[in-house]
Order: sequence, then structure tokens, then C-alpha cells
Amino acid sequence: MVPDRTDDAWLQDIRKLRSYAIVRLDGDGRVLGCNAGVEAIFGYAPNELNGRHFSCLFSESDIARGVDQQAFVQALAGDFEQIGLAMVRKDDSRFRASLMLEDMSSDDAVSVMMVIRDITGFFNTQKRVREAQELTLRGQRLDAVGKLTLGLSHDFNNLRSVIGNSLDMLAARRTGDEAARRILDIALRAVERGTRLTRQMLAFGGGHALVPQFSQVDGLLQTSQELYERVCGEGVALEIRTDAGLPPITVDVAQFEAALLNLLSNSRDAMKGVGRVLVEARTEMMTLPAMKGADRPFVCITVGDSGPGIGGDIRDNVFEPFFTTKAVGDGSGLGLSQVHGFAAQSGGVATIGTSPLGGAAVAIYLPAVV
Ligand SMILES: Nc1ncnc2c1ncn2[C@@H]1O[C@H](COP(=O)(O)OP(=O)(O)O)[C@@H](O)[C@H]1O
Ligand SMILES: [Mg+2]
Repeated sequence: MVPDRTDDAWLQDIRKLRSYAIVRLDGDGRVLGCNAGVEAIFGYAPNELNGRHFSCLFSESDIARGVDQQAFVQALAGDFEQIGLAMVRKDDSRFRASLMLEDMSSDDAVSVMMVIRDITGFFNTQKRVREAQELTLRGQRLDAVGKLTLGLSHDFNNLRSVIGNSLDMLAARRTGDEAARRILDIALRAVERGTRLTRQMLAFGGGHALVPQFSQVDGLLQTSQELYERVCGEGVALEIRTDAGLPPITVDVAQFEAALLNLLSNSRDAMKGVGRVLVEARTEMMTLPAMKGADRPFVCITVGDSGPGIGGDIRDNVFEPFFTTKAVGDGSGLGLSQVHGFAAQSGGVATIGTSPLGGAAVAIYLPAVV
């Protein structure tokens, strides 16, 4: 058996230890001595900290919250431990620390040992894992709602066809009864609305067979500019900016159009009909979270407005079908779900951000043809 080292040799080892910073404090929290880890982790030369208060290793905001005080008081009552605290190096840079303080007082002197480890790497990995889990969960939730919506929309579609066909047959009878004719017209218009709703529900659930066509985004936007202006209304100044040399995309033109109309009408509603809307198209290099590998080019179409924006509290929900903050009858909650479904089915993604105009900006990324 290897003989154990003497107490002195032990002490020497601990003084030389570099992966843990060990600081000895007096009863007022002033530094009495440090091991080599303090230089390795905080950047202070040996003895440089002696006589200074240990709170110089804490961030201003933690000092303002009294974290240093609390740690010391708790240590004197036994021990204190915290993981993930931001601590401050000599050069004022920050790192995530695991911090432990323990009372080492003897009969004739009060002293506290403080032990610190830099856990920035571990902390960041944990954070990334959490973020990835949240993304996956959100994706799974949208998937599940998509399947449900798809099932519902097929049933809804069948009912709608039966009602529509029956109304058509009634209308064909031409009874000459004006009142009946008007009622039939109302019913037929409702069926028409039902058709549009089903289309959007199908689009979200991925149940719509897309007909992709080789297209140029700037061309698509130009052709429909007049229609866009009409949807926005007179009180809205619409500007369309497209980068020169945009790569082509393959896209279902009708769904693309529907997505833009959904976004523009959302902007108009958010601004109560008065304000500015900016439609931009540019090329961006990126990878989708679900795809591994190198960045590839996407055409990014953003619709931004000068409205109130979409608050962080509902950002996670706005792509869900039937989610609306509008009054009953005003909103179906299917606009952004169509945008999401269309982008995903086209091999891209839709995201929510903030527009340079101050309001919401919804971006649709569609893979460029290369
Ligand atoms: N440009 C926008 N500015 C502010 N809020 C928006 C904007 N676009 C969408 N929203 C919010 O997202 C919700 C969902 O939008 P959408 O799916 O199109 O359904 P709907 O327009 O029928 O409410 C809206 O009710 C609104 O709260
Ligand atoms: Mg809408």
C-alpha cells in the first residue's frame, strides 16, 4: 500500500490544485489566502486578493440582490452551495460557477472556506439540450394538432360537399320564389366560406397536395401587387422590396398567394387598417433545425408591419390552428397555421420576429433551387 502523505504535503497539493479555486476568508469576508486555482480560474496573481472582500468575485447584480451577503451568513450557519451563479474574473469577464462556502471556524478564530469551479461548458451544454428539447416538443405538438386538424377537415369537407350539392340541386329548381332564392344564396355563400376554411385546415395538416412550380419570387410578388394593395386597404402604405438576383424556388403558387394574403390581412387587422407594411424578399444561407449538414440557400420572404407586434407570451401559439386573439366571428385562427403548414410542406419554415417598422414580422423560408 502507498503510505498516505503527511498533512503538510496534503496542504501543498491543495494549494497547487488548479481546477478548483479555494479561498480562505476571515469573519468579515476578507481574503486570507488563495490556492493556484484562483489564478487559473479568476486570473488574480497569488496574494493579489489578500485583504480584499470576497464580494469582488460576484457580479454587480448579484451584489445588489445580496447574494454574497446571504452566502456568507448561510456559510457561518453551516454551509452554502449554489450552481450556475455568474462570477466575475479579474478582467471583468463572466463565467458560470459552482460555488460552495463552509464554516471552518475554530475556538479562537472565525474562518470560512470558499470553493469555486468553472462549470460554463457544462452549463451551456445543459442550456442547449433544454432548448433542443423545447423545440422538439413544440414541433411534436404542432404535428399532433396537424393530424387532428387533418382528420377533422376531411370530415368537414365531406359534410360541406353534401350540403353544397343539395343546395345546388335546390337552386337549380328555379321556383321563382325570391325569398327562398335569397336564403339559398346565403347558404351557398356559407358553403363557399366553408370551402376556404377547409382548404386552410388541409394546408396546416399537410393534407393538401401541393403543385410545385418553378417560380421567381420577385415575379410572383409583382404580379400580385395590386391584389395585395386591395387586401391592405387604403390606410396602409405597402412597400415591396426584393433583392436583385434572387434564386428561383419551386412552390405551389396558389398556396404562396394564400400565405401572403393571410399575412397581409393579419398586418392590416393588427394596425386597425392604418400603418405601413413592408414585404421583403432576400436570399439567406441556413440549415433547418431538423436537418443536419452545411448551410444552403433559402429565399426568405418577410411581411412586417408597424402594428403592435406579437407578444412573447403568444409567440409559441400563433401557428396553431384555431388560435386567435380576435373576437368571435372576426378570426378563424387559421391564417398563420396555413402559413406554417405551407412553409413546412414546401421544405422550409416560418418564423415570427420583429419588423424594422416596429410591429410583427413573419418570415417564410423556402429552399432555393440550386
Ligand atoms: N401582424 C400581426 N401583428 C400582431 N399580431 C398578429 C399578427 N399576425 C397574427 N397575429 C396574431 O396571431 C393570431 C393568429 O393569427 P391567424 O392564425 O392569422 O388567425 P386570425 O387572423 O384569424 O386571428 C392573431 O389573432 C393575432 O393575435
Ligand atoms: Mg389571420
